[in-house]
Amino acid sequence: MSETNVDTESESDHARRIDTEPTEPPTSETAATEELEGSVSIAEPDVSDAVVERVQSVIDGGGLADGPEVRAFEDEFATYCTADHAVATSNGTTALHAALEAFGVGEGDAVITSPFSFVASANAIRLAGATPVFADIDPETYTLDPDAVEAVLKRRSDIVGLLPVHLYGLAADMPALNALADDDDLFVLEDACQAHGARIDGERVGSIGDAACFSFYPTKNMTTGEGGIITTDSKDVAQRAQQFVNHGRGQSGTGGYEHLDLGHNFRMTSIAGAIGSGQLERLPDFNEARRETAAYYNEHLAELPLETPTEPRGYRHVYHQYTVQTDSPAERDALAETLEAYDVDSAIYYDTPIHQQPAYESLSTAAASFPKAERAAETVLSLPVHPGLSDVERRTVVKAVTDHYTSQ
Ligand SMILES: Cc1ncc(COP(=O)(O)O)c(C=O)c1O
Repeated sequence: MSETNVDTESESDHARRIDTEPTEPPTSETAATEELEGSVSIAEPDVSDAVVERVQSVIDGGGLADGPEVRAFEDEFATYCTADHAVATSNGTTALHAALEAFGVGEGDAVITSPFSFVASANAIRLAGATPVFADIDPETYTLDPDAVEAVLKRRSDIVGLLPVHLYGLAADMPALNALADDDDLFVLEDACQAHGARIDGERVGSIGDAACFSFYPTKNMTTGEGGIITTDSKDVAQRAQQFVNHGRGQSGTGGYEHLDLGHNFRMTSIAGAIGSGQLERLPDFNEARRETAAYYNEHLAELPLETPTEPRGYRHVYHQYTVQTDSPAERDALAETLEAYDVDSAIYYDTPIHQQPAYESLSTAAASFPKAERAAETVLSLPVHPGLSDVERRTVVKAVTDHYTSQ
């Protein structure tokens, strides 16, 4: 899966925020760490003045909860993903939980997911009353390995669905996973919480599986403060999810207080919806800026003894994180220390795989070992790639990483 990507299509004509690109590795002249003001942060949410007017109009209107702004945002996000329906939620975790409820998941069911993700991917399965079953990852893409999934499917008869995670902004191998799911009549719920706008062969995540969930937490490729959304082409799944996020309430009936099923309050606020519409307009620019920084890093870090991210042929990575892999855990720690000395933030996503989390100790399905996920957890390090990075900041990141390896 390490072929070069051919999907060079740009989402935006006006995302050229990078001035001149040095073609040579940076020298002390071009790196210019002395120009840096403050540290280079790992994330920097950009909710500009443009949304103030939208938010003000929500406040003026007084309909703060579940108002027309939420319905408008749902329509816009569904259109963006080329999905027929979208259901907004309070965050990505509640989106996953509600989607699993909409698929009818419950006690006695098991769902396969990745052990190398934010814990919410597996937590949602448990919160819906089912059992998460892990399968190992592809060590190059960090996403679910379809062969490992197939091996689990051969072993267990209680699997009702797959929950692949599009980690760091790269879609999982959906063609292979969808094929496995078709053979066994399973649902596929994409955890796209880190992958707004990612694509496979031109098709956007959010419309490749049976449903998908996104998070709008502030560090994500777009934000609503807190927020989430479910996209799907299935009217039935959308209706059930919509009902679940609103206490199982029916659309008509006894004064609007007819509750057809058990549900929760997972609703998005109108203010979040208004921010979401403004952010969605900027998402193509945000993603393009992330991709430009990633291309810059790929070029300038290519000769160093570390693995830069993979973008398989036909895939469009949206670099929620730009994550490198070092040769050893000690090397990862040393690189993080050098970056800190240059005032460059770095972060480890995730240093403990889910099956090794204390909260998962009691789960029998967590007892297995997943060597590729465990190795990734020991050796990955994410560098700043947010869309607000300046040229000086990007050069500083490259200089810090380069100096780490060349001054040893
Ligand atoms: C892969 C993944 N799944 C689920 C979530 C949960 O989203 P939220 O934090 O909005 O609940 C996140 C958020 O970090 C995530 O990264």
